[in-house]
Amino acid sequence: MREWTREERYRELKDADEIKDLHKRIQNSVYRQLWHVQPVTGLSSDPNGFAWHEGRWHLFYQWCPWGAVHGMKYWYHVTSEDLIHWTNEGVGLWPDTVYDNRGVHSGSAFSADGELVLFYTGNHRDENWVRTPYTCAARLGKEKSPVKLPKPLFGPRPGYSEHQRDPKIIYHKERERYYIFLGAQSGDQKGCVLVYESRRLLEGWSFAGELKVPGYEDFGGMWECPCIGNIGGKDILIFSPQYIRLPGRSGSTNHNICLIGHMDYDTLTFTPESGYQHLDYGFDFYAAQLAANTRDTDRAVMIAWMGLPDNHYPTETEDWEGSLTIPRELCIREGRLVQNPVRGMEALRMERLNPDGLLPEACEIEIQTEDEDLDLHLFTEAGKTGGLKIHYDAEKRLLTADKSGMKKRFNQEVGEVLSVPLGQPLKYMRIFVDRSSVEIFINHGEAVFTSHVYPAAEEHYYTVSRPVSMILWKLRASVRDDFVIE
Ligand code: FRU
Repeated sequence: MREWTREERYRELKDADEIKDLHKRIQNSVYRQLWHVQPVTGLSSDPNGFAWHEGRWHLFYQWCPWGAVHGMKYWYHVTSEDLIHWTNEGVGLWPDTVYDNRGVHSGSAFSADGELVLFYTGNHRDENWVRTPYTCAARLGKEKSPVKLPKPLFGPRPGYSEHQRDPKIIYHKERERYYIFLGAQSGDQKGCVLVYESRRLLEGWSFAGELKVPGYEDFGGMWECPCIGNIGGKDILIFSPQYIRLPGRSGSTNHNICLIGHMDYDTLTFTPESGYQHLDYGFDFYAAQLAANTRDTDRAVMIAWMGLPDNHYPTETEDWEGSLTIPRELCIREGRLVQNPVRGMEALRMERLNPDGLLPEACEIEIQTEDEDLDLHLFTEAGKTGGLKIHYDAEKRLLTADKSGMKKRFNQEVGEVLSVPLGQPLKYMRIFVDRSSVEIFINHGEAVFTSHVYPAAEEHYYTVSRPVSMILWKLRASVRDDFVIE
């Protein structure tokens, strides 16, 4: 693995020509995704600024241009009409002020009065590398580039550590107020959320208090990327707790969970009505963000980073890594969060194939099964088992994925086997494969499993242990791997 110096990681991008050749080189990678949002060069991580604005979906991702490394972060901008076909728009936010001299970190967006307003964390570091996080805003109007406000909306809150970031902006109609939910770490290193409020979008922000979440006072050392939403009258709180091991999650200390409950803005208390739910049971899922300015009240739209902060991926050697997940539609059924691929995904289907054991590099598989044990091995070599081994234990209602049988192994130290506990017997799976990922939606949204995979040229087959009803479609490309840097 290449060692990067701090200078290399935090180099500023001055000219598109500096990364043109890198883009050309990585375009040839067999692992470039065909229908997922992925970095134009270098690394993509958290989704940022996800909103419906003036007839289009706008989305940004945390972007480090130079390679598969976390360093100077930009926002890269993509748009879509349907959440399925994506267009590269260019650099959304550049780190070019004193407040964000070491990166424009994560945040969200809000569409108001014909502008998309971006709320982000200015990652300032002084000459001794001491960090000061600022919550900043920029306005994207009719011009190509957003205009940053000259001053941050607010600086760090005293009494908390330097980890205060990832503003999620929302508007509360009844209270006629905007709120910002900010991920933070308390002075004694516990994860928490800070809440700010204002009657106006771009000024008058004041600290409202720390969010109380009964039962979660000591739940990890930092909560990244918080999100608050409402689905069908229930409030949901989503965040990515770090520095904590959770049952059934192997060695990982980075998670992304959802609480369903009630948000009381008078007392700033989010009261969960049940235990937390993992947004995903796979190996690579983090920093999920809900889209802003959606109209439906009974569902929400969410997208996440297919990756984890401390993980490393085989394409590092090619100087790029990461992609975003399939956007998901969330609803609540019988008090549980239900997640399905965004509607309209059928548009990607090309011809329906005869399920003959061959696994195309981009495909969708629909499986209906009886409640009996099942072994499904994906990405196997011809005539062999192995690859990504998915086993369903009907008695335990447990679906287990073991990736140790793949030729390219990675992140072994955090574990290669994970299980998805099911409340209902396994009846249905919708499996989406792209060139370096697999996403499995189980029982019409009861649970989801997302993982990067890097199959070798010969690992393009699958096996099933018993007859199941299976439909297989080849999927078309829906992202253009073009070089747009402006
Ligand atoms: C989450 C995160 C955020 C931060 C961003 C920096 O992955 O650490 O908290 O704003 O990434 O890229």
